[in-house]
Amino acid sequence: MIPEEKVREVAERLSIVEVVSEYVPLRRAGANFLGLCPFHAEKTPSFNVSPAREIFHCFGCGAGGNAFSFVMKIEGISFPEAVKLLARKAGIEIEERQLTPAERKTQDEYSQFLRINDLTASYYRSVLINGQEGEPARQYLANRSVDPAVSEAYRLGFAPDRRDGLVKHLKNNGVELDTALKLGIVRKSDTGWYDLFRNRLIFPIRDARGQVIAFAGRVLDTSLPKYINSPESPLYHKSSVLFGLDMALPSIRTGNSVIIVEGYFDHLALYQAGVQNVVATCGTALTGTHAGLIKRHAERVYTLFDSDGAGKKATIRSMELFLEQRIPAYVISLPAGDDPDSFLATHSKEEFAELRDKARPAFEYFVRALLTETSPDSVDNKVRIIDDIVPRFRKIADSVERDLYEKEICRLLGITVHAFRKRMGGDRISPHDAPVPQQSLTQKGNNVQDTLLALFINYPDARAEIVRGGLETIFSDAYLDVARLLLNSLTDSDNSLILRQMTEILENVEQKMLFSRIMVSDGYLADIEWRAVFDQCTRSHEKKQVATIKDIASRLAVLDPDSDEYALLLKQADSLRTRKSKL
Ligand code: CTP
Ligand code: MN
Repeated sequence: MIPEEKVREVAERLSIVEVVSEYVPLRRAGANFLGLCPFHAEKTPSFNVSPAREIFHCFGCGAGGNAFSFVMKIEGISFPEAVKLLARKAGIEIEERQLTPAERKTQDEYSQFLRINDLTASYYRSVLINGQEGEPARQYLANRSVDPAVSEAYRLGFAPDRRDGLVKHLKNNGVELDTALKLGIVRKSDTGWYDLFRNRLIFPIRDARGQVIAFAGRVLDTSLPKYINSPESPLYHKSSVLFGLDMALPSIRTGNSVIIVEGYFDHLALYQAGVQNVVATCGTALTGTHAGLIKRHAERVYTLFDSDGAGKKATIRSMELFLEQRIPAYVISLPAGDDPDSFLATHSKEEFAELRDKARPAFEYFVRALLTETSPDSVDNKVRIIDDIVPRFRKIADSVERDLYEKEICRLLGITVHAFRKRMGGDRISPHDAPVPQQSLTQKGNNVQDTLLALFINYPDARAEIVRGGLETIFSDAYLDVARLLLNSLTDSDNSLILRQMTEILENVEQKMLFSRIMVSDGYLADIEWRAVFDQCTRSHEKKQVATIKDIASRLAVLDPDSDEYALLLKQADSLRTRKSKL
């Protein structure tokens, strides 16, 4: 644990401009510095760094935060690691806080686990490389044309056909077998300790930092099960691990996209062919946690699954996860009968790139797959197809995209848009996807609320005024959350230190994005007469709300008064009216 004062000291010693400049060329633009965002591909700079606020924000991709978050994101490291890295740069020595006995025990055990896995990986590696016992595995890898350098990069190994080869090796290195037992790589029976893996090719599974956290072992022949994997352990949770992420990160960062495959050998085949922005799930279907992890590192994702039925299912399931998390997803389709490994065995990297360039948006792939399964030639079938589509369609976040798909779906099914919307329920207005006015304001970034929040932050008098009128009459959604959190922390004197620490207090990405956006762009508010701007903003806020009420009224007119949608909209209109009257 790093003491908080140290963190503050590091933050104060370094300027964010200095930190960022080591990674991104910056030029001065008014009060801020400007450069090309390192977190997404862009040609015109929208990456802002504010030296006054010690904060960065990209208007292109929304990334933002302070010097620590910048280093965490660009180096792919944790907060304590980022603090240490910057402390070294600032010449500050960090003594970690004394751990409590319980913390020390956990940490000791944790480093023992890592040591055991490392010893294990080295053991399997040396069996593979040296000596007679590794010969069948060397032969196997040669048959599958795996380059020695690639074998080295993966740290491939071989578990010999012995009952307790690993057990002995660990013992010789002074490992407590009971600790190794918790990792599942050795086991205990009445007759003594024995190895989990026997006569298997070993893929070490590593975390994003390259530390070995688990193993997978493949048979060298056709016997079953084909793979055995380490069980879940304190180090290894398969639903949140992406195999190969450590090797893929540099390439993911350059191209901002990632390819997901299902097999270890698929991963290896792509890597060997020079396609390195690839990760694999570890013998499990893709989970929401995986999708979240992907979202942290890439802007676009390609799925590359087998061309068989199971592969199709996995593709569609993953599409739903990506829609939910709003990650643009594309499907790379392989020729029938191929998996990535077999495709690359007979095709070049360029041919693979052609396939990738032809990748289709996941939703389009899904609709087409549905139509090949069920032909839309009867009313019954059409209804079945639409009912399959609707719940997923609702998850499409982008309204332009939705419009396009709506047209396409209707064209493919030979139905009218009206009929489709009816099936969607009440002209598309449902609790889930009604264009709730406040929400859409937040998504687009609302200038009026931006300005009001900036006033709230910078002018204690404006803040008092807003508090008097009620925060919720002015702010909604993330704006309201941020304002509430700020209100707890801000004082009437100099707030610069507090503002610098705000990114740690904010609760989620949306709040952080909003906050950093405002903090890098509120320069225009310096030395102004706050009251004039405030009045202008509240007036336009009010006008907008009147417009929204009109909009809601016109929609109410065409809805069934008994429907849920009707009730929901009515409630919205009511709350808008109350707010308006308070202004
Ligand atoms: N898998 C598993 N346990 C099994 C079979 C498969 O955990 N008994 C997982 C592994 O992660 C494997 C993936 O599912 O990598 C895909 O399976 P498969 O296509 O059969 O394996 P590949 O790794 O592609 O191996 P190969 O090319 O040798 O068939
Ligand atoms: Mn496979």
